[in-house]
Amino acid sequence: MNSVAVKPARLGINIDHIATLRQLRGTPYPDLIEAAHIVEAAGAEQITVHLREDRRHIQDQDVKNLRKNLKIPLNLEMAVAPEIVRFAVKLKPEWSCLVPEKRREVTTEGGLDLERNRKAIGLTIKSLKRAGIKVSLFIEPSLKSVQLSHELGADAVELHTGKFCLLTQKANTVASKLSPAAQKELVRIEKASRLAHSLGLGAHAGHGFDYENVRWVSQLEGDNRSPLIEEYNIGHSIVSRAVMVGLERAVREMVSAIQAP
Ligand code: PXP
Repeated sequence: MNSVAVKPARLGINIDHIATLRQLRGTPYPDLIEAAHIVEAAGAEQITVHLREDRRHIQDQDVKNLRKNLKIPLNLEMAVAPEIVRFAVKLKPEWSCLVPEKRREVTTEGGLDLERNRKAIGLTIKSLKRAGIKVSLFIEPSLKSVQLSHELGADAVELHTGKFCLLTQKANTVASKLSPAAQKELVRIEKASRLAHSLGLGAHAGHGFDYENVRWVSQLEGDNRSPLIEEYNIGHSIVSRAVMVGLERAVREMVSAIQAP
């Protein structure tokens, strides 16, 4: 029989918000390397961190420590900013995901404006690739942005799924039905992914996924029944879920610390 083994989609875990907790108090905990080892042991295939220009969560030293201690690939999300590009070129993560960045945003709003920043993004891609780093571009799921990503020499696109995810959460979507607006956005994601594949680009996705809405995307199939999206980068919902599944043990350990020191 000539059946092709289907490669499952990869999950990258964005651990920025574990660092957010630490930065809130300036404590040594939670320890990012300990977190990264738990993530590795649980079956994730990548660690993703966003080294923001304002350093609100991940710090330079975190990225250096992760680079030294990880068994799985590191995906460094970063703005097209000379200081950060120099840092990345020196550090050489396996992947770099270029994202737009605004100082006052709560999280990354929207994808890169490739037309307006074509020259700077093109030069940054060249520098990163010269250093042996694979590059993905965080873009809106539009055909035009995928086409431009290809022309600029990216290895992959990461489709911004924030709009789709917000629409599913707003509508309080029941498991079996999407609102027409969410359905329309899902079709955009699907078409953008198919174009990416036809141009030889990897199709990644991220932003806003939770344990329910991710299924609408993860059930989309590409060639040979392989998943249409080959990589997901997910953070906030997983860190939030970790609080719920870990809280009982955390309380028990503290009860024991004060009652049976
Ligand atoms: N991918 C990119 C490029 C992002 O900027 C983010 C948010 O930092 C994520 C994935 C993860 O998004 P979320 O935390 O909503 O899962």
